[in-house]
Amino acid sequence: MRNSIAVMNTKGGVGKSTIVLALAETLAAYHGKNVLVIDSDSQASVSSMLMTPASLHQLQNAGLTLVDFLVSTVLNNTLVDWSQFVVRGVSDVDDARSVFLFPSDMQLTLFEREVSRESLHARLRASIRRLLNDVRPIFDVVLIDCPPGLSVLTESWLREADFHISPTKPDYVSSCGLEVFRRFKALNPEMGFAENLGVLINMKDRSSLVDDEYHRWLQENPDNRCFSQFVPRVNALQNAARFSTIERSYQAKYPGEAGQTVRGFTEEVLARLAAANVHPREAPSAAADETEAAPVRR
Ligand SMILES: Nc1ncnc2c1ncn2[C@@H]1O[C@H](COP(=O)(O)OP(=O)(O)OP(=O)(O)O)[C@@H](O)[C@H]1O
Ligand SMILES: [Mg+2]
Repeated sequence: MRNSIAVMNTKGGVGKSTIVLALAETLAAYHGKNVLVIDSDSQASVSSMLMTPASLHQLQNAGLTLVDFLVSTVLNNTLVDWSQFVVRGVSDVDDARSVFLFPSDMQLTLFEREVSRESLHARLRASIRRLLNDVRPIFDVVLIDCPPGLSVLTESWLREADFHISPTKPDYVSSCGLEVFRRFKALNPEMGFAENLGVLINMKDRSSLVDDEYHRWLQENPDNRCFSQFVPRVNALQNAARFSTIERSYQAKYPGEAGQTVRGFTEEVLARLAAANVHPREAPSAAADETEAAPVRR
């Protein structure tokens, strides 16, 4: 089953971590899926959305994060059991007990520097490949929260994961982030790359004509494979980032429109995953070159 998804946009602040969180909790609470969230961002955003700061610090101090796994497998070239780094039962949603987390740590940046300094890119990629091969059959869905930009670690995820989803705001700069990403994907096709599962329009302001225009423009490019469900800018999703020490229901965390749109998006993700596991890989579309320029420029 091809079920690993890197959530990625080279632009920061478009909602990557928020969408990973909401997708993981919806898959668990509404669809009974076992979901592994791999936090590949040194900011550890999604880790702190899924557990208390005290629990996260404890894991970081105990050497039980993605950094420690990667230092062992890549810098020290030793085999370690990935499962000891995975935390079960994270999330503050009472119905989402099947979300698992591979937490992150600030030291990730230093690790990446060592990989570049010692030219260990191939070993890094092999470690990521082994990890994904190990977790694919155990979890229903594997979500990788990538940082903005294109680091050596992000490149490894993108070349080894089965799919990528790119959240974007419907604005000029975020769309440029998608374009940079697309160009990056087109380089070195022989090295392999995740398949585009879709672009998600996030934080759309319903009353903004400019947002509408960008939304349409992004939708018109078939290479984007925009999800038909967009996610509006709503307070509930902003608040979802704050981990609650008291468990809450899914409805309390994702009320009204927040829940409806996130569930609509999740259903599309599941449908596309199912279809992609039946049909062969997408053929690159010729439409990319014919795409019109963005409606609003700087
Ligand atoms: N649909 C939404 N409605 C309202 N606020 C949102 C929504 N999506 C994300 N946010 C808020 O936008 C901010 C950025 O979101 P988030 O941290 O998920 O982005 P990111 O792309 O992961 O950022 P980074 O590139 O730094 O990793 C956060 O404050 C988050 O709460
Ligand atoms: Mg993030």
